[in-house]
Parts: sequence; structure tokens; C-alpha cells
Amino acid sequence: MIQESILEQTLKDLFAHIEFQAQPAGLYDPLRYMMAIGGKRIRPRLCLLSYGLFADEFTPQILQPAAGLEVFHTFTLIHDDIMDRSALRRGQQTIWKKWDEDTAILSGDVMCIDAFKRVSKAPAAVLPQVLDLFTKTASEVCDGQQLDMEFESRSDVTMPEYMQMIGLKTGVLIACSARMGALIGGAGETRQQALYNYGYNLGLAFQVADDYLDAYGDQKVFGKPIGGDILNAKKSWLSIEAARLGAPGLVEALNAPAESPEEKAAKIARVKALYEQVGVADAAKREIARLSTLAIREAESAALPSEGLAALNGFANSLVGRTF
Ligand code: IPE
Ligand code: IPE
Ligand code: MG
Ligand code: MG
Ligand code: MG
Repeated sequence: MIQESILEQTLKDLFAHIEFQAQPAGLYDPLRYMMAIGGKRIRPRLCLLSYGLFADEFTPQILQPAAGLEVFHTFTLIHDDIMDRSALRRGQQTIWKKWDEDTAILSGDVMCIDAFKRVSKAPAAVLPQVLDLFTKTASEVCDGQQLDMEFESRSDVTMPEYMQMIGLKTGVLIACSARMGALIGGAGETRQQALYNYGYNLGLAFQVADDYLDAYGDQKVFGKPIGGDILNAKKSWLSIEAARLGAPGLVEALNAPAESPEEKAAKIARVKALYEQVGVADAAKREIARLSTLAIREAESAALPSEGLAALNGFANSLVGRTF
């Protein structure tokens, strides 16, 4: 098993030295900007962690696919910010705001292609399986994003529908990251599947935590505007659960127009008061804990040495522990 300190250093070096085409600068500068700001790099970290459970050293054949997962994720964020009208990401202006929408679309497109190039550097022996996994995942993320948009204009979205949607937009890429590392590391089918299920449940927990932090987080830490989901009438775990619990006047409060900063603050406060009235903030924390326990159960089924299981446990805590 590869030690955590080596993993951390490798991850740091990987993104410190990642390169993209120089010209046309108008296409690649926005992409470089987004990669340079850097996020939490959860997906490549999980991919390397999972790989390190089965292999002894990092080679370009795992590092490039791991980087590809982060490039793909960042591409989805660039397009997501246009779709969600989000002005702030990772504490900085989003690409469509800093440049314009056309730039964000095309830089996102080329980033998606760059991600496939990197994933294609997986060892030849497992490349067909790696590409099957990645292409399936990439299209599922689009399915999830489409459902997410369709849910915006519906007021009858159920919790099972919501969980299926977040499984697609967020769960599958985290699941894919865990499985890809195991696959390239040489794990058998049963362990690959267990790690996929671990990542999937952790991804669900992570999205519920993201929904929670969107309303209750600290903007400086979260790096995104607080209350964005409420202002844009986006469905979130909180809004779905509040509706399920019959929060009075929720639909009106979420659909109320808000233009000025004062109106926006009032709308966020009004919706959060409804959330508190039915106790969904605490319920979200319990759901995050439940889903992350489910993830650990899946990891346990992989019958790994105890230090491997401990590493997966630690990763789960670092990911969703921030909301407790
Ligand atoms: C944001 O993902 C989108 C969600 C799936 C909630 P991250 O929270 O991993 O974003 P970065 O990469 O750290 O900015
Ligand atoms: C993220 O959903 C899903 C993807 C980017 C694929 P959100 O819309 O909740 O993500 P944030 O909150 O903007 O990061
Ligand atoms: Mg979105
Ligand atoms: Mg968004
Ligand atoms: Mg969000």
C-alpha cells in the first residue's frame, strides 16, 4: 500500500506541473485559470488512494487518468456555473462572469476532450475497461445535470427522484474515481465494485453536504455564494425534505422574485426560517452521516487489509466531516 504522505506529495506535484496547450490563449487561459485556483481535488485523490491499496508505486499510467478525472470534473463546473448562473467558484469569479458565456462553453468543451486524452493514458491491458467506465460515467453526469435543470421548474420532485439525480450528477464520478484507481491498480471485479459502491454512497453524502453548506456554510470556506440554491429556486436535499415535511408556504417562498441585495437576503432568511421550522438542517446532517456509514459498509465488503480500510474511512471523514 502507498503511504498517505507520498500520495499527498504526488498529488501536489501532479497539479503543480500540469500542462495545457498554449494557443489560442483565449481558449486555454480560462481553463488554466480554473485549474490554477484548484479545488479540493477529491476525485484524483480518491483515484490514487484506491490505486495505492493495490499497487506500490505511482506511474504516469495512473497519474494521467487521475488528472483526467479532475480536468473532467472542472469542465462540468464551468458549464454548471453557466447553467446555475453562479458568479463565484472556489472563491473566484466564474469563467462566464470573468470572460463570457461563449468562452465558458468552448473552454469547457476542450477541457472535456483533454480529460479523455489523459484517461486514455491508462495501461493498455485495462484501457478498454477504463474507457467503458469513464465514457459511461461522463454521459451519466450529463443525464444528472439535465434532470437537475428539469427539476427546477417542477414542484412535485420526490426524494427518491432527487437521490437518483444527485447519484448521476455527483455520485457516479466519485464512484468512477474509486473504481478506476482499483482497476488500474490490478484489483479484481468484486473489489472494484465494492469501491465503486463506496464512492457512490460517499458521493451522495457529499452532495447532500454541498446542499446543506449552500444554505448554512461559510462563504470564505465554501468558496461559493451562500444561498445560491435558494435564490435560483434550485432543488436541494433541504428543499425536497422540507416539502416532504409540509413546510407551509415553501413553494411561494422559493419562487418569490428577489432583485435587490435586500430582497435577496430577505428571501434566503425566509426560506431558511421554514427549513428550521421543520428541522431539515439537522435532518440533513443525519442523512450525511447515514450515507457515509453506508459507504464504509461497502468498503468493508472489499475485505481489505485494516490499514486500507482505515485510509478509506479517513477519506470519508475528510470529505463530509466538514458538516458535523
Ligand atoms: C462541486 O464539487 C460540485 C459538487 C459535486 C457538489 P467539489 O466540491 O468537489 O468542487 P471543487 O473541485 O472542490 O471546487
Ligand atoms: C454539481 O451540482 C454537479 C456538477 C457540477 C456536475 P451543484 O450545482 O450543486 O454544484 P455547485 O454547488 O455549483 O458546486
Ligand atoms: Mg448545478
Ligand atoms: Mg452549481
Ligand atoms: Mg451545490
